[in-house]
Amino acid sequence: MGNVGAKEVPVLLSPDGRRIDGRKLDELREIRIRAGALHQADGSAFVEWGANKVMAAVYGPREVHPRHLQQNDKAVIQCRYNMAAFSVDERKRPGLDRRSQEISKVIAEAFESVVFAEEYPRTSIDIYIEVLQANAGTRCAGLVAASVALADAGIPMVDLLPAVAVGKIGGAIALDLKKEEDNFGEADLPMALVPQSGRLVLLQMEGHMTEAELAESLDLGVKGCRDIYEKMKQALRERYALRPSDRGAA
Ligand code: CDP
Repeated sequence: MGNVGAKEVPVLLSPDGRRIDGRKLDELREIRIRAGALHQADGSAFVEWGANKVMAAVYGPREVHPRHLQQNDKAVIQCRYNMAAFSVDERKRPGLDRRSQEISKVIAEAFESVVFAEEYPRTSIDIYIEVLQANAGTRCAGLVAASVALADAGIPMVDLLPAVAVGKIGGAIALDLKKEEDNFGEADLPMALVPQSGRLVLLQMEGHMTEAELAESLDLGVKGCRDIYEKMKQALRERYALRPSDRGAA
């Protein structure tokens, strides 16, 4: 532990380039994705990513609520990202705070780039993301879960949307930050990729990095997204390899 002011700052990177959990700079945390985890939703997915546990449920296309959001030429995509009060170390006040609203908005906008919304005018596609346990990167885990849930609901899309955060810790660029790295690192850069086109449809940044570091981060993030993409497709394959009669019980 180093000491900066009164705050204990953990050493994020060892001299041999290992991170606090033993990972290398370009290594993802372990990810498990289960498509179709809920029976009531039109589509769903459960993602365990490191210590994150995130459930996504998709409903629609269905009637628009509130009504005034209805659009005559396309479906409206609505997202609600929510963190359970018990999902973090210090109890989070329940309800929609500014952070949740911002994350809900950027996720809905990311999906607007890939969903064929014009096929379902005057309807709503509703995405619910519930974070049950949080350990940094929950917006990315939410995007991954929601993406698989949308596919599970049969909503036509250009592609799935893998997502990951890259950051800067101990002066180095690292893939998929965990909580201590997010808290004590120098920068955090979540992104979501359309694998087919290579286009980023979500890119945010907190902290500081140089232009060269940004380029390195984008390269590393895109590679990470491509690995996550394979896991997302595998989850859907596992779900749909079942006989149709088995699906309700899956
Ligand atoms: O989760 P994500 O990295 O997308 O968003 P963030 O705003 O950068 O939050 C990073 C992490 O801080 C979360 O994943 C939680 O582990 C933690 N956090 C918390 O403990 N209490 C909050 N009210 C919000 C976030």
